[in-house]
Amino acid sequence: MTALPTALITGATSGIGLALARRLAATHRLVLSGRREPQKLPDKASYVGADLSEPGKAADVVHMALREAGITKLSKLVLNAGTGTYAAADAEDAGTIRHTLDVNLVASVLMAHRLAPLLEAGSGKLVLIGSVAHRGSGNMPSYAASKAGLSGLARSLRSEWNGRIGVQIIHPGPTRTPMHENAGYQPGGLDRLFFSADAMADEIARLIEADRPATTIMIAARLRRLVSGKRS
Ligand SMILES: NC(=O)c1ccc[n+]([C@@H]2O[C@H](COP(=O)([O-])OP(=O)(O)OC[C@H]3O[C@@H](n4cnc5c(N)ncnc54)[C@H](OP(=O)(O)O)[C@@H]3O)[C@@H](O)[C@H]2O)c1
Repeated sequence: MTALPTALITGATSGIGLALARRLAATHRLVLSGRREPQKLPDKASYVGADLSEPGKAADVVHMALREAGITKLSKLVLNAGTGTYAAADAEDAGTIRHTLDVNLVASVLMAHRLAPLLEAGSGKLVLIGSVAHRGSGNMPSYAASKAGLSGLARSLRSEWNGRIGVQIIHPGPTRTPMHENAGYQPGGLDRLFFSADAMADEIARLIEADRPATTIMIAARLRRLVSGKRS
């Protein structure tokens, strides 16, 4: 029997990451990461607890856990974990800004570097989860900056790795997950237009297969689905 390829997903304890894990579970051996272990893991999945607000330590913890599990190759590394604060630029203090940049950007740089040898061994691909906010968005300046930083990271690694490891960045549009409430944003009735986490995970899984270097998943795609009768 052929062994399943291994996919590591960060931020897999909630929202988009958890929904994506459910989608990839049939075709991958999964290693899921977050701060709190999900009550029920998908079949063949294991869990590594790592707090990305300490990026260097988290990269070491994840690297060590893979080594202890005998995993030497990765087919996919999906750096999906993310956080942010909904606040005007002058309302964020240095600690909050640093926290957002550490979790969303610094940890992604360090995880990518640390796990690159496993991706290369597995002819694998790095998938960065950005946001439509990477273009800039009011009341989320450090979040937007962190996601714009991921775009630069994707371009740099694509150049540096020169085809030895695939690099893809996917920028989701608004999605109904706990992230908005955690960030202090109340979308009100607007969230009826948002993607569900499952619908967004479907789009992301499809894009990972399609292999385009950079894609933004616009709300227009969601509206097309609603019009065509697929309500999720
Ligand atoms: N929801 C949207 O509208 C939207 C739109 C565009 C892009 N995105 C992006 O999509 C990704 C997933 O977001 P989501 O909407 O699914 O949010 P979510 O439901 O809040 O999930 C966020 C995930 O990130 C993890 N995480 C947060 N802080 C962490 C830390 N310090 N250390 C380790 N893990 C941490 C969480 O793990 P724990 O809970 O276990 O700590 C959780 O699994 C993020 O990168 C986000 O920026 C979301």
